[in-house]
Amino acid sequence: MSGRMRWGMVGGGRGSQVGVAHKVAACMDGLFEFSAGAADIDPAKSRADGIGLGLPEDRAYGTWREMLDAERQRSDRLDLVTVATPNATHFEIVRAFLEAGFNVLCEKPFTLDVAEAEELVCLARERKSICGVNFGFSGYPMVRQARAMANAGELGKVRVVVMEFAHGFHARSDDANNPRIRWRYDPKQAGNSAVLADAGIHALHMGGYIIGQSVAEVSADLASCVPGRLLEDDAALQVRFSDGTIGRLWTSAIAVGQMHGLSIRVFGEKGGLRWRQEEPNQIIWSPLDEPSRTLERGAGGLHPIAARGSRIPVGHPEGMLEAFANIYSDLHAAIGAHAAGQAGAAEDFPGFEAGLEMVRVVQAATTSSKNRGQWTSV
Ligand code: NAI
Repeated sequence: MSGRMRWGMVGGGRGSQVGVAHKVAACMDGLFEFSAGAADIDPAKSRADGIGLGLPEDRAYGTWREMLDAERQRSDRLDLVTVATPNATHFEIVRAFLEAGFNVLCEKPFTLDVAEAEELVCLARERKSICGVNFGFSGYPMVRQARAMANAGELGKVRVVVMEFAHGFHARSDDANNPRIRWRYDPKQAGNSAVLADAGIHALHMGGYIIGQSVAEVSADLASCVPGRLLEDDAALQVRFSDGTIGRLWTSAIAVGQMHGLSIRVFGEKGGLRWRQEEPNQIIWSPLDEPSRTLERGAGGLHPIAARGSRIPVGHPEGMLEAFANIYSDLHAAIGAHAAGQAGAAEDFPGFEAGLEMVRVVQAATTSSKNRGQWTSV
């Protein structure tokens, strides 16, 4: 099976932050067709949004349970289901779709706690489902170029990775009155972490993805700068990766003046490179003792994984939608290979294991911070 596949989404209704990106990205290359959905928490809006987004009436469902019950019985069932609902709902929805044998792409943070994430990883393995967690920024071609360069030894032994995801959009003391922000600092709805689980783990995942290492230990300082918040709006983590590389992460929601604020710098024995999400088509590469140079997305001389993740000629900006589309094209290839009984190519998209790793990091970081930054294993 390698032709166009059927794709469905739970959440992502009109007005949601991330829904449009999934819809455009999944369908961008003609690999998936939007075939079913339960877009919104409100059943009437869910149906209306589904139809408005192009679904046939019988597959624009009022709730995800209706969607599951109907889709599991269809001979033309969905090949992939994306779960793009708020964090606290991921576990229940993902588990139900896995139990019914679907492949799943779940938004981050994967779950609110480690036990839930472990259960989903086990279930996905048992069912042999193809599953991902949407650390979608790892789909940028130039992030993949960085990974390929590190993997090919072009940086030499990687000594230090500096990761940042610091924005300034939750900096007001009256944010407690804003329903779109309030829940993020409410432990019942957000779990044990706010900005680290929301933003920081994107940067940390990217660091590990580029250098090909997992997080072994953290020492964390989580702070709530806006009075009255129960969860952190700023955090700094010292990190030791599995092969000894040192990591430094700063994440914040009160960094007034910063926009999306995601960036990464990787320093190896043979050179350093840096990438910023707000200028995602370039990497600045500085080989030791040589002038720095700009590597451009779409230009010659890139590693195959960066070249193949790029769609338009050099000089025209590509962005987040294309990065997400690369996650979808990887999933399509993996689902196709699995259905054909092939081992499949090396998987470049973040799997459930990456989601679990980041849930473990959040837990270790909150423990460490309570113990005044004590090093805590992940
Ligand atoms: P949002 O609050 O803007 O939208 C959530 C959507 O899910 C709404 O349409 C809502 O009606 C729907 N929904 C809620 N409960 C539902 C249910 N039980 N059944 C069906 N639909 C339901 O939230 P946002 O910002 O879009 O975030 C959704 C998820 O995506 C979160 O886990 C968030 O962390 C993640 N996210 C990931 C991003 C990334 O770059 N990977 C970027 C933004 C968000």
